[in-house]
Amino acid sequence: MSYPFQIQSYDQYKEVYFKSINDPDQFWDEIAQHFSWHQKWNQVSETDMERADSKWFIGAKLNITENCLDRHLIDKADQIALLWEPNDPKEAIRKLSYSELHEQVCIAAQMLRNHGVKKGDRVCIYMGMIPELVIAMLACARIGAIHSIIFGGFSAQSIVDRVFDAQATFIITCDGAFRGGKDIQLKSIVDEALERIDSINKIFVVQRTNCKPHMEPGRDLWWHEEMDKTDRYSALSAKAESMDAEDMLFILYTSGSTGKPKGVVHTCGGYMVYASYSFVNVFQYKPGQIHFCTADIGWITGHSYIVYGPLCSGATTLMFEGIPTWPDAGRFWDIVDRHQVNILYTAPTAIRSLMTFGSEPLKGKSLASLKVLGSVGEPINEEAWEWYSKEIGKNNCPIADTWWQTETGGILLSNLAGVTPQKASYATLPLPGIIPVLLNEKGEEISSPHVNGYLCLKNSWPSMIRTTYGNHERCRLTYFDQYKGYYFTGDGAFKDENGFLRISGRVDDVLKISGHRIGTAEVENAINQHPNIIESAVVGIPHSIKGQGIYAFVVHEQEISGKTILQDEINELLSEQIGPIAKTEKIQLVSGLPKTRSGKIMRRILRKIAEGDIDQLGDTSTLLDPNIVEEIIKGRIH
Ligand code: WT7
Repeated sequence: MSYPFQIQSYDQYKEVYFKSINDPDQFWDEIAQHFSWHQKWNQVSETDMERADSKWFIGAKLNITENCLDRHLIDKADQIALLWEPNDPKEAIRKLSYSELHEQVCIAAQMLRNHGVKKGDRVCIYMGMIPELVIAMLACARIGAIHSIIFGGFSAQSIVDRVFDAQATFIITCDGAFRGGKDIQLKSIVDEALERIDSINKIFVVQRTNCKPHMEPGRDLWWHEEMDKTDRYSALSAKAESMDAEDMLFILYTSGSTGKPKGVVHTCGGYMVYASYSFVNVFQYKPGQIHFCTADIGWITGHSYIVYGPLCSGATTLMFEGIPTWPDAGRFWDIVDRHQVNILYTAPTAIRSLMTFGSEPLKGKSLASLKVLGSVGEPINEEAWEWYSKEIGKNNCPIADTWWQTETGGILLSNLAGVTPQKASYATLPLPGIIPVLLNEKGEEISSPHVNGYLCLKNSWPSMIRTTYGNHERCRLTYFDQYKGYYFTGDGAFKDENGFLRISGRVDDVLKISGHRIGTAEVENAINQHPNIIESAVVGIPHSIKGQGIYAFVVHEQEISGKTILQDEINELLSEQIGPIAKTEKIQLVSGLPKTRSGKIMRRILRKIAEGDIDQLGDTSTLLDPNIVEEIIKGRIH
């Protein structure tokens, strides 16, 4: 058995879980022994949930890239670490063995060092899904620079906000990125952002689309030219930075209920241990298997389950540059057959979208290499689960429904594929070390089954969020203040009679549009920038493919007739301010919004109206102007 901590049976899971809860420090101590450290810890953990403080592997020193790369050079130097499938299936695939990836990362690390990037510096990475993205993030980690990856679909304004909040001094980007039939000029989006920020010293530009972007002399450098200039020998002999287990590894911005995304901070030691532990157990990875996670590395799923978890485990990880429906809706299945993929980890929205094409795109596809399927990002409905299991898994592959968050760093709730029981649309049981509880409005733990509650976590685990960058109080208030002594997830859930958990969705003002997390306040802020819009309120409505869509209630300056023009203008604004992922489905012009006497928008009422659930509006008599509700109900867009 090659992973000593891989759980093999349901009985063993129960035993291990019990042990992990009884003596968490002893449990994680044993697991962490299987990693490579410069210096071991003198204490496993220290947590104060009320202050939002937790530390893991206190006093330990390590470099995560030695665990991802160097450690495997003894027995896996020639094994493929990173397999890359290009956007265009006619273009050549790329394969990097562990020794090749190690060499590239060392050279890139040395190159960044030569240009003045130091431990603790914040480096923003804004790239498409190409191997250089993985090389760039690992190069940062190698020298102790903190990477902050910005999803390549975000707008210039999103870059501005993130660079500013992190006070980043370097950016790594591409000339452009290919995604399906489009090519997106990433460097020119960065240039637009740079008109509004001045903390950036240098920009490294990877050549991908050959779109000949503007290069500012003295500031912008071609990645390949600088890599070529770097001395290979000194790069390979340079030492990886010795990081404290609690030093920051990365920042990743995510949306919450306020208008401003938060920089979620993860640290080196705990994150590494948990990402690897969860990878090996949930997917039941076996040496030699090909693991394909379809997420973008700009999201936490890509960080933990394309890069850090698989590479720390010596796996072969496949990254895909393109989209599931290009050149046709059989693309994922072609990739599975072409690379003999064993584990496929994707999102419900992708599954639902591919389902709509029927069985045609599956003709001639074998899919026989698949052993394990995974789902992440939002609740998976039973219909999608069944289709995934039958059409893709050929009734032969367990499906791991994995619940977690950017803040949790790794999967917290999931069946272990083929090892613990699965149940369609249930995330089922916690991983070892995790204590999920459901709380009622008063903050009391709910013990009876089939009662919805707020999903909270009772203790800390190694990859729990450490802080929100630059503002610890914000972290405390957002996650640890609602219910004292607990981490509040923002999700609702209930248990069945066996204690299996089913997530019902967000209970806060966070939307999940095609699995992408967007705050209602962010969307409203963007809409309110329209010159003729006075105010707006947005809510999520069920959408058959995206999971949720945006329904906007808009108060407009004067009576207008051209609703579609307005919708185009609003979507254009959203695309500029957030990115093309934030499009509205429906816009309703209203003369006012339902507000409490203190001026708070009653979103609960708007949500019900948008869903057509008007019999359940509850008490509206306390509203500032109860008549407005009638008007809004009449004008509802079906
Ligand atoms: C939110 C976190 C974690 C990686 C991708 C999303 C929802 C995530 C599931 C699941 C039901 C899920 C939750 C959660 N979510 N996985 N298996 N079942 N809901 O990360 O963008 O930080 O979003 O995604 O609402 O809170 P994220």
